[in-house]
Amino acid sequence: MRAVFLLPLVLAVCAASSIREKDLDWWETTIFYQIYPRSFADSNGDGIGDLNGITSKLEHIKDIGVEAIWLSPMFQSPMYDFGYDIADFYAVHDEYGTMEDFEALMKRAAELGIKVVLDLVPNHTSNESVWFQEALKGHEKYYNYFVWEDGVIDENGQRQPPNNWLSRFRGSAWEYREEVGKYYLHQFVIGQPDLNYRNPDVVEEMKNVIRFWLEKGVAGYRVDAVNYLFEVDKALFGGKYPDEPLSGKINEDAGSHASLDHIYTKDQNETYYMVYDWRDVLDEFKAKDGVSRVMMTEVYATIQNVVKYFGEGDRVGAQMPFNFDLITDVDASSSAADIKRAVDKFLTYKPVDKEANWIVGNHDNSRMATRYGPALVDGINMIVLLLPGVGVTYMGEEIGMVDGYVSWEDTVDPSGCITNDPINYWKSSRDPERTPFQWNDGLNAGFSTAEKPWLPVAEGYNTLNVEFQKAAEKSHLKVYQALAKLRQEKVFRYGRYESLALNEDIFAFRRWYNNKAYIIVVNMRDTDHVVDLTYFENVSGTVQVELRSVASPKNEGDKYDASALPVVAYEGLVLEVK
Ligand code: NOJ
Repeated sequence: MRAVFLLPLVLAVCAASSIREKDLDWWETTIFYQIYPRSFADSNGDGIGDLNGITSKLEHIKDIGVEAIWLSPMFQSPMYDFGYDIADFYAVHDEYGTMEDFEALMKRAAELGIKVVLDLVPNHTSNESVWFQEALKGHEKYYNYFVWEDGVIDENGQRQPPNNWLSRFRGSAWEYREEVGKYYLHQFVIGQPDLNYRNPDVVEEMKNVIRFWLEKGVAGYRVDAVNYLFEVDKALFGGKYPDEPLSGKINEDAGSHASLDHIYTKDQNETYYMVYDWRDVLDEFKAKDGVSRVMMTEVYATIQNVVKYFGEGDRVGAQMPFNFDLITDVDASSSAADIKRAVDKFLTYKPVDKEANWIVGNHDNSRMATRYGPALVDGINMIVLLLPGVGVTYMGEEIGMVDGYVSWEDTVDPSGCITNDPINYWKSSRDPERTPFQWNDGLNAGFSTAEKPWLPVAEGYNTLNVEFQKAAEKSHLKVYQALAKLRQEKVFRYGRYESLALNEDIFAFRRWYNNKAYIIVVNMRDTDHVVDLTYFENVSGTVQVELRSVASPKNEGDKYDASALPVVAYEGLVLEVK
């Protein structure tokens, strides 16, 4: 009886003293910072960002406390999809510079202790690639790199695409080529023919691409559109790709990608095994020098499918299957409970031995400051950088950049142009989140000396710029720097996590480790509140302000009664539990 009584106590003591500080790998402790090369810094005045521009600004990355960048594609491309249509996977795009420029970038990054991750775009090439051009000439090897299908003849004797599959951008996913008398599949723009992953030559070629840049010293890859990699095996359907069923989504017209349920073109099982094979390639390099190469997968899918990219059984996959929940599930209209649910989702579904990651923006989605509102920039950065796991920042989030206004005339993103709608194009266009990075309040916000950069500069750049925010006493940039520093504390590296919606508007989470504990409080709304933090277990007494959002009336060091903390509209606070 007595032994039974004592057992829980003994176990509890053991648990408390056995917290294991696991060895964290470089990718687990850094922040990843996404650079969209076309928009970061233009070194030669042509209005387009380039590699030398990036190299010249690497100190900014260092300065904000980031130790890894990932670059959106900088490979040779006709730019129908701004680099995601690659004509030569082994070359640098001429508007962005040369291979020597790339090597100089790598060298400077290494000097500053910054790792460089590239974008791997395995699903498709450009229709201007040698591979596709050779395919059109009937070169068998390359013909088999792509997905070809016969058309069907309708009742009027007209040739029509093989089935109802749709491009992600809109309209048929099939394009006819006279040269070979067949249709090719393009799940994105016409200029992006899909590669055929049922062909072992393609599989091998992409592994060569992976090895090529790893040999140049890159630290890994963000892998584009992975869940589009495989189409269903048409042999299972009598040799013809079957139609996809209607999704039944209202407000989706016939040409819209969302009008279909993509059961044959997305999330096919073979995809996961391909990713595990790529991880093996990355690990070949680790075996040589002991340095992990990282893989981040870009997949918008159900959480159950997203976590499959981590691995299965003894197969390992991506270290960071991107977690887009804070982009897709919540926005400015979300309640604290909505935020809590979105945050807890990835943490709940990921395997216990894997890291979470946090993303609130990228070049495909309206900027974080626009989606959540500019007043929440610091609060959201607190969430992204202090939750357990890896933080990912899209360039400009550290200074609170907002979406730019891009007129119909200036719109260049295929996603906007393809709507052919001068009124509603902006709902689809991704140009607003791609406007030039804001360095100062000078010409083109310091991005370029050109008369007209490739996209216009966004509003608010007179204060939403690096120079201003570095000089200011309080700024988003200063908050970001402080967060990057705080992240290095053990409590944020190893500490446990618990979250609460303290009321409709206030999301809060606690991180604790040994004797140290912090509570992060973010008011999502325009209403002041007084909240009771003692709803968190083991929290009583006082809390002390470690960091506060720019507009907060509090000062660092201020102490408050944990049971009655005043929180003003949109305030973000990092509080140490005393
Ligand atoms: C996802 C990329 O992020 C996006 O910009 C691109 O248009 C598609 N994949 C196609 O590569």
